[in-house]
Amino acid sequence: MELNRRTVIAGAAAAGIAATALGSGTAEAASGGRKPVRESFGKLADGTKIYRWSLENGGTRLKVLNWGGVVQTLELPDRRGHYANVVNGFDNIDDYVAKSPYFGALIGRYGNRIGKGQFTLDGKTYQLSVNDGVNSLHGGSQGFDKHVWDVEPFVKGSDVGLVLHYTSIDGEMGYPGTLKAKVTYTLTRRGEWIIDYHATTDKATVVNLTSHVYWNLAGEGSGTVEDHELTIAAGRYTPTDSGLIPTGELATVRGTPFDFRETKTIGRDIRAGHAQQVQAKGFDHNWVLDKGITAKPEHIATLRDPRSGRTLKIATDQPGLQFYSGNFLDGTLTGTGGRTYRQGDALCLETQHFPDSPNHANFPSTVLRPGQVYRTRTVHSFGA
Ligand code: BGC
Repeated sequence: MELNRRTVIAGAAAAGIAATALGSGTAEAASGGRKPVRESFGKLADGTKIYRWSLENGGTRLKVLNWGGVVQTLELPDRRGHYANVVNGFDNIDDYVAKSPYFGALIGRYGNRIGKGQFTLDGKTYQLSVNDGVNSLHGGSQGFDKHVWDVEPFVKGSDVGLVLHYTSIDGEMGYPGTLKAKVTYTLTRRGEWIIDYHATTDKATVVNLTSHVYWNLAGEGSGTVEDHELTIAAGRYTPTDSGLIPTGELATVRGTPFDFRETKTIGRDIRAGHAQQVQAKGFDHNWVLDKGITAKPEHIATLRDPRSGRTLKIATDQPGLQFYSGNFLDGTLTGTGGRTYRQGDALCLETQHFPDSPNHANFPSTVLRPGQVYRTRTVHSFGA
């Protein structure tokens, strides 16, 4: 399939055929190296214009909003070259603003939970916005997912992409320091989607940026992902209390449903009744990646839909991976394709530092100080 895709892409590019002029249902629509195009995606209540950018390269098609840096659609071919949108989303901005459970969004200033929304840094205790029971989740009530980002398109060699900027002012959501965040989405000629995160601060603060894409490699809205096969290169995970805050323990996955070191379907052990699963209504945990923090991204997880053959491989330099099995999708949201999302109809694989790190001295530090640069990369590679 890889070879076929590349041949078709090269052919289309050589013939100078616009992607939109080609059939939208097959791999023939693949293009390469064209500048992202922008279109309107409605307005916020205060009149702010929302835009959607379309990017395509190496057979992967991405649509991104300036609202929260949301990946609204991500289309991939299956083994026969038929495209499907493999991420949950909405077809209108109002739903994103009113009820999105972080579909496709950039998460900051701190991805995942901070217990009681509190932490102490350099002797000073900070109270963050609390939006998940007594805890702070994904940056608080108005995290980076709920802001308009500045977006600049680029074409660089055979890569195409977007640079997204958001500046979070000192004290926003309770966090110290003005944080300048820059996130780059790149689509390579091999169809990889790379996320580069970059941030600087003017006061000591904590940072943990991630991306909250909900995957269903069979196509969004097509039903459960329980038959997807998953592999995670992690021998330990961080068990949590009932509020999903890590206890601090790095527990072995051996002999538990949390062992994804050998490929298995998500459904195989999801009803095993382990106390940690019962509490989280499925999988909603941080896996401690065996490789730890690395200078360069290393492969840590593979997701495969056996029916379509679509495969996602994730590489990161980060130490953790939150695998969330869509437990809180409850049939009340209608997605891009007009179908409702029920429990387990999609899953998230969020590369990150561990939840609640600012309150656990034994977890890798998430502190960023003036003069330091926060820089991390996650690479998504696709196949069929
Ligand atoms: C968390 C879930 C949470 C979800 C929000 C995930 O990253 O792990 O606990 O419910 O985000 O949709």
